[in-house]
Amino acid sequence: MEYTAAYFQASADYVKEKLNFAPEIAIILGSSLGPFAARIENPVTIDYKDIPNFLVSTVATHAGKLIAGTVAGKKVVCMSGRFHSYEGYDFEQLVIPIRLFKLLGCRAVILTNAAGGVNLSYKPGDVMIINDQIKLTGASPLRGHNVPEFGPRFFDVQTMYTPALRQLAKDCAAGSGLTIHEGCYFFMPGPQFETPAEIRAIRILGGDAVGMSTVTEALTAAHCSMPVLAFSVITNMAAGILDQPLTDEEVNITGQKIAHDFSNYLEKIVARM
Ligand code: HPA
Repeated sequence: MEYTAAYFQASADYVKEKLNFAPEIAIILGSSLGPFAARIENPVTIDYKDIPNFLVSTVATHAGKLIAGTVAGKKVVCMSGRFHSYEGYDFEQLVIPIRLFKLLGCRAVILTNAAGGVNLSYKPGDVMIINDQIKLTGASPLRGHNVPEFGPRFFDVQTMYTPALRQLAKDCAAGSGLTIHEGCYFFMPGPQFETPAEIRAIRILGGDAVGMSTVTEALTAAHCSMPVLAFSVITNMAAGILDQPLTDEEVNITGQKIAHDFSNYLEKIVARM
């Protein structure tokens, strides 16, 4: 598949026609973080399957809906459910959501995910502001024909997790009831959770949290010069740390437990963005 600017424009034209406003901030909600969508006032909901040239979410805990409206006085567009390479999508297809946001005119994106805690000082229920990432496996989402309307062939990613937005997130931490860290997100392709040996290696390499998403979205945003703020909710300790099996259920239970405090925290940040 050769993607052109017109390919992405078709999705944006459809969404623009459904919304009677231009969203300023895009938000991608990760596993079990969907409840934030209930905060959106005057919501307009669009099923992914109705958007031309878009993808569909195949994960049970991902709703598969684009929801746009107002949060804390800001116009937002929110993806409740995202796309992962483990669903069978090519890395190159994973540029689609961020490019839609860019064409809708969003000036920043907030990415959220559920992740395993690799840093031994982290606990389930903690939140990590992502300050950098490691993606050693799989292709770049920007591989293939460059679409210059979005950005240059070669691009800098040193500050893709935008320092000013990270500072804002830290400034909003007090009173949130959450334990907030800042650290490095290590991408693993899944869908299996990692082995204990992989987690030991990830720790040596500098990863603080491990997960199966987010990195392609951050890279796509960096390519089109869109500021990024990203959070990992630590839903479980990564493999080999605790003497217990890793389950999707644990991920969802922890996600649900902190959904309320996390949603309050996000709302406070959106208000100040
Ligand atoms: N590993 C990878 N992805 C995850 C994890 C994990 O431990 N927890 C939630 N998403």
